[in-house]
Amino acid sequence: MPLPIPVTLTPTTTATTDSYSITVKPGTTQMKATGAATPIVGFNGTFPGPTIVATKGRTVQVTQTNGWTENITIHNHGHKVAASSDGHPTDYIVPGASKTYTYTNDQRAGTYWYHDHTMDLTGAHVYNGLAAFYIIHDPAEDSLGLPSGSYDVPLLLQDKQFNADNTLAYDSNNNIRHGFLGDTAVVNGAVTPYLNVSTHKYRFRVLNGSNARNFTIQLASGASFRVIGSDGGLLAAPVTLTSLNVAPAERYDLIIDFSGAAVGSSDVLTNTDRDNPSIGDLVQFRVTTATADTSTVPATLSTITRYTSSQAVSTVPLTFSQGNQDWTINGLLYDPARLDVFSTLNTIYIWELNNQSGEMHPFHKHLTEFQVLDINGSPPPPEQMGWKDTVAVPSWGSAHVIFKDETFPGTFVFHCHKLEHEDHRMMLQESVTQ
Ligand code: C2O
Ligand code: CU
Repeated sequence: MPLPIPVTLTPTTTATTDSYSITVKPGTTQMKATGAATPIVGFNGTFPGPTIVATKGRTVQVTQTNGWTENITIHNHGHKVAASSDGHPTDYIVPGASKTYTYTNDQRAGTYWYHDHTMDLTGAHVYNGLAAFYIIHDPAEDSLGLPSGSYDVPLLLQDKQFNADNTLAYDSNNNIRHGFLGDTAVVNGAVTPYLNVSTHKYRFRVLNGSNARNFTIQLASGASFRVIGSDGGLLAAPVTLTSLNVAPAERYDLIIDFSGAAVGSSDVLTNTDRDNPSIGDLVQFRVTTATADTSTVPATLSTITRYTSSQAVSTVPLTFSQGNQDWTINGLLYDPARLDVFSTLNTIYIWELNNQSGEMHPFHKHLTEFQVLDINGSPPPPEQMGWKDTVAVPSWGSAHVIFKDETFPGTFVFHCHKLEHEDHRMMLQESVTQ
């Protein structure tokens, strides 16, 4: 079936603010090409949820109404935000209630996403549909001449498991170890869809929104593509690759160039990570129309000023381990009443991420984007040299990240973004003070 493109919401605007009202409620989506539509729970009852497009420096207010039967809380992933608008795991919107989240968009243009973050239930809630794109633009990026409009396409990569009646199957308790792995690729809510493309460069905003699956993406033809952005916006320069690892919650903006392709030809974005059950093809591109391409991919995309280790005031060790029925950080299970790590605003820290388990853990920190200093003692690959909020810490391996919390004191979580690990308490709290 054709690749669905999530709708972009139209805000109510004032001179400074764009306002939105969204209701979380049940709905249905035609996920499989044949058979019944699949019941979901989504933003406005849709899956994927509607895209919010923001402008750097303009405030966005989103009023989320809970039209469902379970508690929810909504986190804008990658957003620098006051704690009261961060979607803390116990900051519930109870059924029937509403909450207005304020996002100042005082951060880099890039591909972000909003999703449910309810304590112990994030996996089930995101799996059932509570995930959507949040894209920030700024004039500097808009002036680069990158592919835009219909040539700028979000790709939400996920895996699902279907029952015979096309309802979604999910059992978090059977998946404590790996996290949930489905047997079916779903992109923007459709099973292995296709996209009709023109002979033009495309910017694909790739988001791994799966619960726990790692994707290693490549084009079936073996053609290269250019990575231009990561979690926190544009890289300094494009990185040409034929294969790219995308861990849960990571985003990469890719340029795939069909300008030299023949009308009638096709290619497939496929996954070569062979976690079991394995998933191969994700989305097919069918070149159906010829068009002139005036977009450009400049050799210099943005300025990334790298931190150096010597700027940090301290190094905080964090060890990720498997418990019996749960997952721990520094031997601790998530407790919303306990503060675990203490940081001061405008101060640079290194967090040392030690993985003492046989599973990769995609580490995610709230409040600020960080830079990756090293992975297993080596500099990160060039596509991880920009700003990030999620980093894959290899099994039995390590990584160091460096960051500076800014603007908003308060209590923020950090956690593994395999959602079943998070729900089995692989999450701690950072207390950020003036
Ligand atoms: Cu994408 Cu704490 O989450
Ligand atoms: Cu994990």
